[in-house]
Amino acid sequence: MSETWLEGKVIENRHWTEALFSLRVEGPRLAFEAGQFVRIALDIEGERVARPFSFVNAPADPTLEFYGIVVPEGPLSPRLARLGVGDTLFVAPNPAGFLVLSELPEAESLWLISTGTGIAPFLSILRTEAPWKRYRNVVLVHAVRQARELVYQEEIRQMKNLKYITFVSREAAGGSLAGRIPAAVADGRLEAAAGLPLGQASQVMLCGNPDMLKDTSAALIARGLRKHRRRSPGQITVESFW
Ligand SMILES: Cc1cc2nc3c(=O)[nH]c(=O)nc-3n(C[C@H](O)[C@H](O)[C@H](O)COP(=O)(O)OP(=O)(O)OC[C@H]3O[C@@H](n4cnc5c(N)ncnc54)[C@H](O)[C@@H]3O)c2cc1C
Ligand SMILES: NC(=O)c1ccc[n+]([C@@H]2O[C@H](COP(=O)([O-])OP(=O)(O)OC[C@H]3O[C@@H](n4cnc5c(N)ncnc54)[C@H](OP(=O)(O)O)[C@@H]3O)[C@@H](O)[C@H]2O)c1
Repeated sequence: MSETWLEGKVIENRHWTEALFSLRVEGPRLAFEAGQFVRIALDIEGERVARPFSFVNAPADPTLEFYGIVVPEGPLSPRLARLGVGDTLFVAPNPAGFLVLSELPEAESLWLISTGTGIAPFLSILRTEAPWKRYRNVVLVHAVRQARELVYQEEIRQMKNLKYITFVSREAAGGSLAGRIPAAVADGRLEAAAGLPLGQASQVMLCGNPDMLKDTSAALIARGLRKHRRRSPGQITVESFW
């Protein structure tokens, strides 16, 4: 059976750096929960090539938004980065994913921890009312290689009750922590930066580089936190981008 695809039109392709881009797309109306993803596709040499992308827009916003990086050897991302206004982007009709607040138990603090493009689903979550209503503390952590990859800063800094912590790993950058997230969990630098304990009263969502997810989960588990599962609630929820 052939798959059904919805057709969207690109209305903006913002380039943050030569590798980082945000696409805004009009057309498809999709029901989803903030934190979910959907497959997007282009026709390349006669084949429809699809990849999952997290929504950056809030569900109530009818303009779809995706944030991506060019993986130079990848088939889809370099072509997405080259899309222009008016170009067609195919969107699957079935958003999915469990990196959503409705799956989480109650807690005092919500920690949204990301590397690179892994910030995308957290932007969607932060654009809804749910985190602000449900959690006394909301922390966004974003780790990138270079300071210029700290995207969406202007919007993030306007979120009044957000604790926003950045890591820049491959150059010295004032205002950002150096090194990697797992080490900063283990040695207490992340808690110190947030001014909050990272313990049983926290819910931690992790998204991005699979090695970061593994190493950060291990560091959190070493501190007594557990993977969250429907049948055995814990504090750690992860989504891997590759
Ligand atoms: C649930 C889910 C949600 C995703 N959401 C996003 C998103 O919002 N934005 C986004 O840019 N990507 C996202 N991805 C990754 C995306 O689906 C593609 O893999 C990526 O755009 C590269 O596509 P490609 O065809 O060019 O290369 P691919 O053949 O898909 O990937 C080649 C290699 O590139 C690397 N890579 C893939 N994705 C990334 C990335 N995001 N950052 C750094 N290195 C990467 C990996 O080493 C991978 O093996 C998501 C993946 C999953 C599973
Ligand atoms: N086209 C271009 O010009 C261009 C430019 C840049 C990147 N890219 C592509 O994008 C890919 C990389 O994307 P990215 O920089 O967003 O992602 P990334 O390699 O995952 O790096 C993002 C952040 O995650 C950190 N990290 C990596 N492994 C970790 C681990 N095990 N634990 C904790 N933190 C970890 C990195 O720290 P470290 O710095 O310590 O690894 C960095 O701070 C490259 O493979 C390349 O294909 C393309």
